[in-house]
Amino acid sequence: MKTLFEGNRRWSERMREADPGFFTRLMQQQTPRYLWIGCADSRGAATEIVDMMPGEVFVHRNLANQVLHADLNCLSVMQFAIDGLKVRHVLVVGHYGCGGVRAALENLRVGLADNWFRHVQDIRNRHQDFLDALPDDTSRLDALCELNVLEQALNACRTTVVQDAWERGQTVEVHGLVYGLADGLLQDLRMSATSLEQAEQAHRQALEAVRDRYLARAAAAAAQGAAVP
Ligand code: CO
Repeated sequence: MKTLFEGNRRWSERMREADPGFFTRLMQQQTPRYLWIGCADSRGAATEIVDMMPGEVFVHRNLANQVLHADLNCLSVMQFAIDGLKVRHVLVVGHYGCGGVRAALENLRVGLADNWFRHVQDIRNRHQDFLDALPDDTSRLDALCELNVLEQALNACRTTVVQDAWERGQTVEVHGLVYGLADGLLQDLRMSATSLEQAEQAHRQALEAVRDRYLARAAAAAAQGAAVP
């Protein structure tokens, strides 16, 4: 705990030195443009990853960055951020090497959370043939991380919160992104939508793009393997 409070004091001092009015402004209001729905993984720290300051990103995180239809916690955060704070972008952010997605993929029993990961298993089951066609565990896991993002981004579009915002003409754009632990880079999975129609089309196209990319990579690896004497 000592490390925690010492770190906090250092940070607070550094912030005040760099910008004496920072905390006063922050106290008066927050005007984030982004709602980040990410994984609870300790390596997926939202604000740091996009090099932003406190006040710029509204954050909800849970295991395996899921947007489930009846999850009142996630839905309430979305409602607060969209109706109240008028965020412009809803980012559903997965990450490669996700432990939750791995547990779902490999049927690992971790405890209560198995029930939460069950939703990711539903996605796995829907794409079983594609995943089976991939040559190794790493590519299967990476691919399922991406498929999960696309599914959760579509779920976000289907919530009453986003539907109502679109209905009343509010500009809210939903995106699916994936974060690489290996290089710290965010990748856009091109599942962006400002209407349900667009969401369904973007979701279909993004799914196809994921399948094409992984299958092409697998074919290239196989060809290279065959060429080695
Ligand atoms: Co994760």
